[in-house]
Amino acid sequence: MHSNLEELWQKLWQQYASLNPNVLDIKSAVEAHTGKEAPNDHVAFRTFRHPSLGIDHLAKTFTDLGYRAKGEYHFEQKKLYAQHFEHESDPSQPKVFVSELKLEECSKDLQDWVNGLLENVSKTKLEIPEICYSGRPWPAPNWIDYQNFYKESEYAAWLSVFGFCANHFTVFINELDPLNTVEAMNEFLEKKGYTLNASGGKVKGTPDDKLEQSSTMAHQLDVEFADGSTHTIPTVYYEFAKRYKLNSDQLYQGFVASSADKIFESTNAST
Ligand code: NI
Repeated sequence: MHSNLEELWQKLWQQYASLNPNVLDIKSAVEAHTGKEAPNDHVAFRTFRHPSLGIDHLAKTFTDLGYRAKGEYHFEQKKLYAQHFEHESDPSQPKVFVSELKLEECSKDLQDWVNGLLENVSKTKLEIPEICYSGRPWPAPNWIDYQNFYKESEYAAWLSVFGFCANHFTVFINELDPLNTVEAMNEFLEKKGYTLNASGGKVKGTPDDKLEQSSTMAHQLDVEFADGSTHTIPTVYYEFAKRYKLNSDQLYQGFVASSADKIFESTNAST
């Protein structure tokens, strides 16, 4: 059990920054430019829908620390389902967004592959409170399988390599004048040479949706596969979110499935 959330966020951030060191540069550049700390809007995780790995299982670390499930989201084409969690008493805590691949809707080949990876993973390994930053509890996949199943589900391929870690942190930009619009933030990032996810446009969502988002494309790192070959593949990415008020004074705290659908593609290969 984590004594406090602060420690958990630190562990997650360290692991995340090791998979994409650019996030350290981006965070300090944004903070230097705005003179403010860049707060986190949400942190996202990926998992498989599976009896010992589903959303409830992965989110337990957070629900044990006061988080409660709020919204749910469906991504039919990508065969994903997601829930977001908010802290019940401290609204300054980042939200948690957990998605899962609906294995039962995937091809028999993909299901067999994932079950094969999970075959020798002990249940105790999946029941630790540190599950959300435990990385990959199963053996590395073969490169040929990674490539093959990438075609069916980029999400499954990514998850097979990286397992449990923050897939992205998201900067909450509302207070970050003069980078407090997604357009301004995007321009700032592109001037620094970062490539943005352009799927569905570089700004996802509208003020009417109450949420606008953008993201960098994932960093690329050399990863060793089970067959001994090494390949450069996409790791994790940084996201930016601007939230709008609902009719009341409250900012919208949910997510927009059509935008999130495109943001998932931030881990697509660059080819
Ligand atoms: Ni996100």
